[in-house]
Order: sequence, then C-alpha cells, then structure tokens
Amino acid sequence: MLTNDEFGLFRNLIYAESGIYLKDTRKDYLENRLVKRMRDIGIASPYWYYKYVIQRKKTELLILLDLLTVNETSFFRNKPQMDLFVKVILPELVRRKRPDGQKKLMIWSAGCSTGEEPYSIAMAVLETVPWNAGWEVRVFGSDLSLSALEVAAKGEYSGEKIIGAADEHYLERYFEKKGDKYRVKDVVRKMVVFDLHNLKTDVGLRNLDVIFCRNVMIYFDAEEQRRLVRKFYESLEPGGYLLLGHAESLHGMNTGLRFVYSKNATAYKKAEKAGER
Ligand SMILES: C[S@@+](CC[C@H](N)C(=O)[O-])C[C@H]1O[C@@H](n2cnc3c(N)ncnc32)[C@H](O)[C@@H]1O
Repeated sequence: MLTNDEFGLFRNLIYAESGIYLKDTRKDYLENRLVKRMRDIGIASPYWYYKYVIQRKKTELLILLDLLTVNETSFFRNKPQMDLFVKVILPELVRRKRPDGQKKLMIWSAGCSTGEEPYSIAMAVLETVPWNAGWEVRVFGSDLSLSALEVAAKGEYSGEKIIGAADEHYLERYFEKKGDKYRVKDVVRKMVVFDLHNLKTDVGLRNLDVIFCRNVMIYFDAEEQRRLVRKFYESLEPGGYLLLGHAESLHGMNTGLRFVYSKNATAYKKAEKAGER
C-alpha cells in the first residue's frame, strides 16, 4: 500500500526527472505500476523501492519512467493536422528553401512512442517532396521509453494497427507483409532515426523545420509546458512549425509563435524574420 508520503516522494522524483506530473488522482495508477516492478525484483515496500531507484538513477530510473509513460499512438493520428502538414506546411517549406538551393528538411517527432508518428511523417514526406530534385529529409523520433523505442526501431506492426489507420495507397506502397505483421519498408525506415531523449533533462535538437510534439505535454504541468515550448522555440529555424496534440494549446503563453488554423487543424509558426509576427 502506497502511503501519501511515499506518493509525494515518487511524484517529486518523477516530475524532476521527466516533467510528468502525477495528480492526486493518479495515486492508484502509480501504485499498480510499482507493485509489479517491486514483485519482479523482490522489494516489499515502496519506500525501499524509492531508495533503490535513487541509488540506481542511471538504470532503474529509466525502468520506472518507462513503466509510467502512456504510449498510446496510431498511424496518421489527427488526420486534419497531417493534411495541414502535407498540403500547407511541407509545400511552403519546399518553396521557401528552394531559391537558396538549400534542399534539406529536418523534422522531429518528440515523444514518438512506438514509431507510428515518425513513420507516418516520413511517408507523407515521400509523397510530397520532389525527390528527383535531390532533397534530403531526416525525421528524428525520440522518446524516454526504451520499450517503446524498441518497437519503433523494429518497425513491425499488427494488421489492426494499420488497416483503417493508413489509406490503402500507403498500405500498398510503404508496408510489406511479414508473417502476420506489416513491416515498414526500407525506403521509409532509411529516413527515420530513433533515439532515447528526455524532454525534461536533455538538450533540444537544433535547426529544425518542423517539430511534432503531440499528446506529450498533457502529462506536464503548466510550468514544464512553458519551459518545453521555450526550448522548442530555440530548436526551430525561422519560419519553422510546432505541431501539438489536439487537446494541447499554447493559449495564454507568451511564446513568440504564431497560431495557424486551417480546416480543423492547428499549428504554431516561428517568424521568418526577426521582429515579424
Ligand atoms: C501518448 S504518447 C504520444 C505519441 C505520439 N506523439 C502521438 O501523438 O501519437 C506520449 C509519449 O510521450 C513520451 N514522453 C513522456 N514524457 C516524456 C519526456 N519527458 N521525454 C520524452 N518523451 C516523453 C511517452 O513515453 C510516450 O511515448
């Protein structure tokens, strides 16, 4: 049984190390997750497990955080926003970069879970960017859940994860059948790089054209959300875009990013030139 004091200790530790804030209503959730882990390693009390985590921050902390993350995701999640990305954002970036002869796009899926999001982004890019003109596109997928990243790197999914989520066209073009699974084809996999990255403690990437950070900030409190958005602002190139989940917004935050709304989809854009909004 997790006491209120023990819950407080874990809550503070988890917040400090990941930005994930467990509200009081999440006490049972935490307890359920801890019980299984404690049983596996033969520790009887939550307090002793807490001490165990503190002593093994490099290894056990990652396991604890992995137990707590919610990894729900799907291919082509939030279709209106994927349409905005394909029909508005990508063509604009391609148009803007072409005159400079700068044919490189850098996209980050921050909190990519089991990989469906970065692979969907890569497929959308493959459909949109004029490849014969020599473009180079990198999609970075990062998460703090090692078990989710293992699934992502494998790139094999059950039929129910794909059929219905990806259009028939994408299914035929970018997946191959492997036993009872569907494997993402190499042409897509080659574009995506996965890495362990903690949005709370690790330094952000740089020179990004688009950041997808969808359905991640909902687990953070307001202060941590503000800090993360400041970090994303620094990571974006001028004219770059930030795409959040449909329940997330920067409303009321002074971010320097402009709200973009089109056909039921939202995004945030960094000014192309200093002083411009
Ligand atoms: C609900 S999933 C969202 C997946 C995908 N972005 C989507 O919208 O379908 C949230 C992901 O955020 C990750 N996450 C939570 N806190 C994180 C942190 N501090 N650093 C990196 N990833 C984090 C979780 O591990 C989880 O995989």
